[in-house]
Amino acid sequence: MFVSGRLPLNRARKQGYALPALNTNGLEMSKAIFSAAERMKAPLIIQVTESTISYAGIENIFGIVKQLERNAKIPVCIHLDHGRRLPIIRKCLSLGFKSVMIDASKFSLKKNIALTKKVVSLAKRKGCSVEAELGALKRIGSMEQRLTDPKEALLFVEKSGCDSLAIAIGTSHGAYKFSGKPRIDFARLKEISSLVSVPLVLHGASSVPKELVQKCNRFGAGLSHTKGVPGKDLKKAIRLGVAKINIDTDLRLAFTAGLREFHAKNPKDFDPRNALSHAQLLTQRVAEQKLVMFGAKGRA
Ligand code: G3H
Ligand code: 13P
Ligand code: ZN
Repeated sequence: MFVSGRLPLNRARKQGYALPALNTNGLEMSKAIFSAAERMKAPLIIQVTESTISYAGIENIFGIVKQLERNAKIPVCIHLDHGRRLPIIRKCLSLGFKSVMIDASKFSLKKNIALTKKVVSLAKRKGCSVEAELGALKRIGSMEQRLTDPKEALLFVEKSGCDSLAIAIGTSHGAYKFSGKPRIDFARLKEISSLVSVPLVLHGASSVPKELVQKCNRFGAGLSHTKGVPGKDLKKAIRLGVAKINIDTDLRLAFTAGLREFHAKNPKDFDPRNALSHAQLLTQRVAEQKLVMFGAKGRA
């Protein structure tokens, strides 16, 4: 178990590795993620978004993860990713989430601090940690991203009392992160890191591996112009203080590739459990690669 619900991110930052925070959306994804962490003997951060909560039902998804945790031999933290609504955050805290994110990054600095502070005070009573976000990742259909200002980051952490800070340094969510060469603002990360001592979190960190995209396309998908964050850039970000790295897209790609491959190769099979088992296996392998790449293997 994590000591009093706190994520072991400070230790990760000090020791120069990162924990992948892996997004789940249901039974198969959760089983794949747990199997990967158990096989790699790594501490696990498994997270759900508000849209997963609407899709799966909060009690259902929490129940699945909780049950898997009971049988696991590794420390597990269930985290709310991009919490934006206070009622959902309160519900997560009451159910026993060990960590929540308050994403008030679209608001002014003042309002972001005030909302984050409020969530910190609610979470503290439950021994739960709080991730906040400053700066904004590019979102589909939205305006330019706002990269995190290092001095604002220092002020934000001091005033809000958050336990970890998600920063914007050039990544974005999804499978289409860059139109040209990947560009991460490492100078900015270095400066933030020198000022801010809480662990830093990198969102939008999937690598969108070519092999997975090609496998999806070989079996009928139409994905083109995809681009992710190269592994070497993620390793550099870890050296510069990033201790939690959010991955969702790569897991989704692996799962989709598995479903497509299974159905294409077994056209007569209509037992969903067989296709889902194959999708689970491919997802597990990707999760294992992340745990190894970020240095989390063997840290449980
Ligand atoms: O922000 C994290 C996700 O990759 C987007 O997740 O589709 O579950 O909201 P969502
Ligand atoms: P990706 O879309 O790059 O996997 O990012 C996921 C994420 O940041 C979830 O919060
Ligand atoms: Zn994110």
